[in-house]
Amino acid sequence: MNKVLIAPSILSADFSKLGQEIKDVERSGADWIHIDVMDGHFVPNITVGPVVVRSIRPLTKLPFDVHLMIAKPEAYIESFAKAGSDIITFHAEVEEHPKEVIKLIKYFKKKVGVSIRPKTPVKLIEGILQMVDMVLVMTVEPGFAGQEFMPECLPKIEELRKVFRKDIQVDGGINESTAPEVIKAGANVIVAGTSVFGAKNYKEAISKLKGQTYPCRGGGR
Ligand code: DX5
Ligand code: ZN
Repeated sequence: MNKVLIAPSILSADFSKLGQEIKDVERSGADWIHIDVMDGHFVPNITVGPVVVRSIRPLTKLPFDVHLMIAKPEAYIESFAKAGSDIITFHAEVEEHPKEVIKLIKYFKKKVGVSIRPKTPVKLIEGILQMVDMVLVMTVEPGFAGQEFMPECLPKIEELRKVFRKDIQVDGGINESTAPEVIKAGANVIVAGTSVFGAKNYKEAISKLKGQTYPCRGGGR
């Protein structure tokens, strides 16, 4: 796995011009659009639902990577799938029957991700690894953008990479200094909120995360 993919999280975008923000990151080299869905139960914050996914779907061809931080994912898979999601990730901590959720996501022909919080061991998802396309290792406690990266999550990425050959995504506090650490540990998909949408030049920010130096030609985004 040699290509690092960057998935800017729209949680840190300017929601008053969300469409423009998405077009800007697409033009700046983003690979996926990461959409954080929070329900005020699983995490202490509330964000967006399927109606927003549907309204931004026509604006870009980039895959929509939908991160469900919600207590009952099975109740919403159909809505998010029909709204135009491409990858649907649910949290292992909320599911007694993760195989059923995976089957439901696959029924709608979407890619499946399973996520674990910083304190959740890889062991919890061992039994379903062969059924998913991606594992999302949270590197902050889910709920808010702009938190500090938790380096104690790095060994979990290494542990997972030894047994899992598909996509390993990381999310939380990823910037140009923490990106090399997670990539070295084995991650290949990087979610970035603050470090992309908080930058003056999105293209430069995305290139830095990919580990290249982008020759600045001026002109901002
Ligand atoms: C946190 C979300 C993240 C977050 C990333 O619960 O899942 O996607 O918005 O933001 P940064 O990159 O600012 O940590
Ligand atoms: Zn996220």
